Amino acid sequence: MSKKLTTNKGIPIANDQASTTTGEGSSRTILQDTELIEKLAHFDRERIPERVVHAKGAGAHGYFEVTNDLSKYTRAKFLEEVGKKTEVFVRFSTVGGERGSADAKRDPRGTAFKFYTEEGNYDIVGNNIPIFFIRDAIKFPDFVHTQKRHPETNLADADMFWDFLSLSPESIHQATFLFTDRCTPLNYRHMHCFSSHTYLWYNEKEEYVWVKYHFKTRQGIKNLTNDEAQKLCGENPDHATEDLFEAIEEGNYPEWDVYIQLMTPEEALEYKFDPFDVTKVWYHEDYPLIPLGKLVLNKNPENYFAEVEQVAFAPSNFVPGIGPSPDRLLQGRLFAYEDTQRHRLGPNHHQIPINQAKNAEVNNYQRDGPMNVGDNGGSGPNYYPNSQNGPEQDISFKPPAFEIQGVIDKHTRPVEDVDFVQTGEFWRRVLSDEDKEHLVYNLKVHLGNAQERIQYRQTALFYKAEPEYGIAVANALGLNIDKVEKLSKLSPEERKEATKA
Ligand code: NDP
Ligand code: HEM
Repeated sequence: MSKKLTTNKGIPIANDQASTTTGEGSSRTILQDTELIEKLAHFDRERIPERVVHAKGAGAHGYFEVTNDLSKYTRAKFLEEVGKKTEVFVRFSTVGGERGSADAKRDPRGTAFKFYTEEGNYDIVGNNIPIFFIRDAIKFPDFVHTQKRHPETNLADADMFWDFLSLSPESIHQATFLFTDRCTPLNYRHMHCFSSHTYLWYNEKEEYVWVKYHFKTRQGIKNLTNDEAQKLCGENPDHATEDLFEAIEEGNYPEWDVYIQLMTPEEALEYKFDPFDVTKVWYHEDYPLIPLGKLVLNKNPENYFAEVEQVAFAPSNFVPGIGPSPDRLLQGRLFAYEDTQRHRLGPNHHQIPINQAKNAEVNNYQRDGPMNVGDNGGSGPNYYPNSQNGPEQDISFKPPAFEIQGVIDKHTRPVEDVDFVQTGEFWRRVLSDEDKEHLVYNLKVHLGNAQERIQYRQTALFYKAEPEYGIAVANALGLNIDKVEKLSKLSPEERKEATKA
């Protein structure tokens, strides 16, 4: 039998198909119809602000299972023994588009995981790419503006997109990844996921190591070509959302093998690259992948808004045994996510069911605020310290202490030759001939829309990473190769001067 239709206060509704009016035909509606007013007023407020980035996404429930015991490196309880399973919720997304934008657009794919552990919720908020465009959080808002709409035309704009990237040469590695077919994945199941950043793991003895996470798809990597992706954007803007939902509905559960790379503090001091620089990877040869577990998605959300739209991931959500590294980009992210969620969902967003610490108790002295739907601490004390049996701190959870020396300043980080090395390696060692052909074509289609002086500046960066790469792009764009080579030898300031409007 169907349930009884009610108002939001549980009052039965006699007629939900007609407003209360003064007559049978065309007539006035009276203010007294509070059922109508409640329904319209609630509808008027249905939209919450969309995420400022990663607005379009799809999500699913599943579990993480430990397959390798690495508990000597971390005290995190959910990693303590082989076979241990933890509930997870995952959200995949594109980055730049709005909530209704197409899933097939060229973009990194966001890959956010919430682990509901017995020590609270732990989030890994990464991408399908192991690196990032910039490495200082202060540049992020400018970067995002260039990927979105032009302030005057409200259109995507190749000039501002490439102007920013070519004037931020640390982006060269990720800009290259972005224009491979990995950034038009077939769907969300056929791609890897990476933490990208380096994180801290520590054990009960306060010994620590640095780690990076890699989630390798068991479905195999599958991508769309640029032309296939563009066509799909028009034909089915929700293709990846649909694919994930249908695969899980059919019992075809997607799975990822989860690995870490692990570096000791001593090794970090000596590594050939800054190990905390998010524009670079740790070479597999130096730091091979160590198995950790597997991740399975086996349940669709029942309600998109309640779960996928309201879920709040934050790189600052750590559990004991895991913490941040001195990666400058990550340091900014530790603030930005909770901050945006206080605005997007409210200060009590942790009380929304999808965000609750399902497997851990929440006890503290924070109280009140809008949309407080918990017991708000009941009759217990709302201050600490107290002598009334309130929740107590526990020093045994203290993370390791770090000695810091330094000079506080706005330390500008220059872009150096070393920042081009991995892009060169990627071109020479990793990309197949077909991958290179697609990369150059994809760049031509997009960079070709920017002003010629910006094309020159960006192509000079590709040349600096690997002359063969720069020449291939220059030929595709019809640029003068001598000029590209000359520009590649200039400092960033000289290059900017030589290519200004
Ligand atoms: P390896 O030479 O040991 O392995 C190459 C890596 O690249 C594998 O992880 C491979 O895994 C991945 N890969 C292959 N084709 C592509 C592609 N078209 N787009 C993106 N990734 C691809 O790597 P190294 O550690 O020696 O690093 C060499 C270069 O490889 C780096 O400079 C970086 O550009 C790139 N790379 C490195 C990664 C790392 O974490 N070390 C991760 C990914 C890329 P798979 O095909 O399963 O994705
Ligand atoms: C979402 C900021 C870098 C991955 C977001 C959101 C903000 C944000 C404000 C919206 C969150 C929400 O509304 O819930 C930033 C800032 C960055 C940064 C300030 C740099 C300083 C990165 C990097 C990655 C990343 C480097 C990947 C390695 C994601 C993902 C989401 C997201 C996956 C979507 C989470 C979800 O599905 O809800 N980011 N971001 N971001 N970001 Fe970032």
